[in-house]
Amino acid sequence: MKTIIEPFRIKSVEPIRMTTREERQRLLEEAHFNLFALHSDDVLIDLLTDSGTGAMSSAQWAAMMRGDESYAGSPSFYRFEAAVKNLAPFKHVIPTHQGRAAEDILFSIFGGLGRNIPSNTHFDTTRGNIESSGAMGHDLVIADGNDPASLHPFKGNMDLARLEAYLEEHGDSVPCVMLTITNNAGGGQPVSLENIREVSALAKEYNKPFFIDGCRFAENAWFIKQREPGQQDRSIPEIVRDCFSCADGMTMSAKKDAFGNIGGWLALNDDELAEQARTHLIRTEGFPTYGGLAGRDLDALAQGLSEIVDENYLHYRIRTNEYIIERLDALGVPVVKPAGGHAVFIDSRKWLEHIPPLEYPGQALAVALYELGGIRGCEIGTVMFGAHPDGSEAPAAMDLVRLAIPRRTYTQSHADYIIEVFEELVDIKDSLKGFRISRQPKLMRHFTCSFERL
Ligand code: F0G
Repeated sequence: MKTIIEPFRIKSVEPIRMTTREERQRLLEEAHFNLFALHSDDVLIDLLTDSGTGAMSSAQWAAMMRGDESYAGSPSFYRFEAAVKNLAPFKHVIPTHQGRAAEDILFSIFGGLGRNIPSNTHFDTTRGNIESSGAMGHDLVIADGNDPASLHPFKGNMDLARLEAYLEEHGDSVPCVMLTITNNAGGGQPVSLENIREVSALAKEYNKPFFIDGCRFAENAWFIKQREPGQQDRSIPEIVRDCFSCADGMTMSAKKDAFGNIGGWLALNDDELAEQARTHLIRTEGFPTYGGLAGRDLDALAQGLSEIVDENYLHYRIRTNEYIIERLDALGVPVVKPAGGHAVFIDSRKWLEHIPPLEYPGQALAVALYELGGIRGCEIGTVMFGAHPDGSEAPAAMDLVRLAIPRRTYTQSHADYIIEVFEELVDIKDSLKGFRISRQPKLMRHFTCSFERL
């Protein structure tokens, strides 16, 4: 059959509240044009994030009833730990309430003034945690990763030559090497197993622990299976285990590829680091057998981890993105190609050429999508990455708008609606105006800053 159907039936639904364009114009003004400030029931299709917004399965809801809320030694923890180790065979698994809490713990150990931490691309919370510890984060993705039009099959790969030069230059100030799979900020693009192995080998050569930010590990493994020579006949869990076996540890947001509405973990092999991490965990999150989570959350994640590696699910998941991207491409909308794992990325700098980067073309497009169609996306560009710790501002490498697709939540007709909104945008895009930031905090400004339309 040609059509790849949603591999599930719907048992429980949430109504969408319809709004008019006039209503949305008013709501935008009230939110100072920051889409994070909107009430989500004023949004028709919420593509702000794929994080924690997915639908749980009936088996996950059933697992929640098994949740044991003991403070110490809950069986829910042991089911969770076994499910994590089945895919990511690290010695210590430390549950946290979400990914950034795992990052906070990791950089409380590895961060600090004068330290330098490389990755293909650090996500915003990762960078925020690194910088607030006093350290600096650096992005060393391959050049193709910053070229929206490049068709490289693994645009998330680390540039190994740059990594080696970086390790030479920064020497002892580098506490660890990181790698984000898939590369969210760079377009949801995958990292090849070969590249993961090479980064691991280089880190070993320079005696640096290697940590994977594994938020979207299952999507990454699907791309490896599809695109990497020699991987076609292997199962997804096998590929996933291979990826994580290259690393000394991982941070994880279980709100992505564990089908959780909340959750995360830090996993690692080193006993001493694990003890430091658990001490921090007890102070900030909770006892090591629940972290920042309820026992029922741990059970939902254990079940979710068995569902996320299902090939029928992953096929449908990635195909949804490809479908939208193919149609936007046909409309002449510059999209990041090839399709990434969790989101559709639009190159707003290219599409809205008349708006310079420091007037935030991504913000202009994201606001227009909401105003016209009630779709909420997210700017990933100069608003998110343009402000530097010394107070200066410069254009980010790219100005993208991300439409992140929640897992198992929207259907084919939602995808068609999104495409229709773009059809209308094609006619009016040249009249869109840029923005100015009128108020901003020091770190991670995109979440709370206010905008004025120019
Ligand atoms: N690393 C990556 C690659 C992420 O995408 C995220 C979250 C985190 C770490 C932090 O995890 O949210 O559980 O604390 N990304 C979400 C997003 C928020 O919309 O892409 P968290």
